[in-house]
Amino acid sequence: MTSGVHQRAKIQSTSPIAPLGIEAAVEAKANPSIQPRPKIFDEFALTDRVALVSGGNRGIGLETAITLCEAGARVVYCFDLPEEPSEVFLASQDFVRKLGNNSRLEYFRADVRDQQLLWKKAEEIGDKEQRLDICVAAAGIVRPGTGCLESPEEAFKEVIDVNTNGVFFTAQAAGRQMACFGRGGSIIMIASAAGSVAVKGPEVTSYTSAKSAVLQMARSMACELGCKKIRVNTLSPGYIHTQMTGAFLDMHPELLDEWSRLNPLGRIGRPDELRGVVTWLASDASTFCTGSDIIMDGGHHAW
Ligand SMILES: NC(=O)c1ccc[n+]([C@@H]2O[C@H](COP(=O)([O-])OP(=O)(O)OC[C@H]3O[C@@H](n4cnc5c(N)ncnc54)[C@H](O)[C@@H]3O)[C@@H](O)[C@H]2O)c1
Repeated sequence: MTSGVHQRAKIQSTSPIAPLGIEAAVEAKANPSIQPRPKIFDEFALTDRVALVSGGNRGIGLETAITLCEAGARVVYCFDLPEEPSEVFLASQDFVRKLGNNSRLEYFRADVRDQQLLWKKAEEIGDKEQRLDICVAAAGIVRPGTGCLESPEEAFKEVIDVNTNGVFFTAQAAGRQMACFGRGGSIIMIASAAGSVAVKGPEVTSYTSAKSAVLQMARSMACELGCKKIRVNTLSPGYIHTQMTGAFLDMHPELLDEWSRLNPLGRIGRPDELRGVVTWLASDASTFCTGSDIIMDGGHHAW
């Protein structure tokens, strides 16, 4: 494969840690002085990357933030509503400090509905760190309780405001910095399996509508931002045991069995089960993945 077109295909892109795989094997064969070594986990490393995570005070957002730190991120800035971070955030911050890889977790009070505030905070991060590589838009709410024919205007709008507009403002804020530094980046929007299928039990049309909008938002942003090497993907979890779902389970304990029966694995998921996919999406291990929805629902979709 030496013709011009193959050369052009090759120079379109190269891994920063090339050669990999077959290329590495061929190079090692040609040069016996090269000692082959495994590189697959190097591709997942987030060494020195800077990240912003919304909803990072607890749950999936915080789980994600810790994961990015473990993978080597220089710093992960967590945005959330409370003035002061939670006990579990402080414990996580301490845990990260003790990892010994110079990574750190920072907390900022910010409401994702406030576009100007998010732009400003992201700009401050960019000014301070001189890069912004990863964004995880995880802030979200659910407001069950009223059927779709009775849902008051404000209740419906509130969910759309946080779960759709807030995700957009977060992605925008981070994307502007990524574009500014010209290094590309990875934006991961936490959508939901409920963006593609309706939820059995609680009446949450506002939630499913908002999450569905996020799926299309990511595809559109991915198409606009591909030329800047900014990748935009969604991650769609099924039922995961967090405070959000815990509130439903407290009110309706029978839902645990019902939700567990909805997938072939026969259980709901743990937040830590998202660690691998988040690291993959954030890292150079997924550089050809954009505009995609990664479903992590124990097989709910397969039924
Ligand atoms: N838990 C699940 O089963 C599940 C499944 C699919 C998708 N998700 C999505 O994952 C994300 C995280 O959910 P979770 O289960 O960890 O819930 P959670 O309630 O534990 O965490 C959500 C976080 O978002 C924050 N938040 C809410 N409104 C905000 C605002 N206006 N500005 C900033 N932060 C705000 C909350 O304070 C909270 O810390 C949400 O987007 C949720 O819709 C959850």
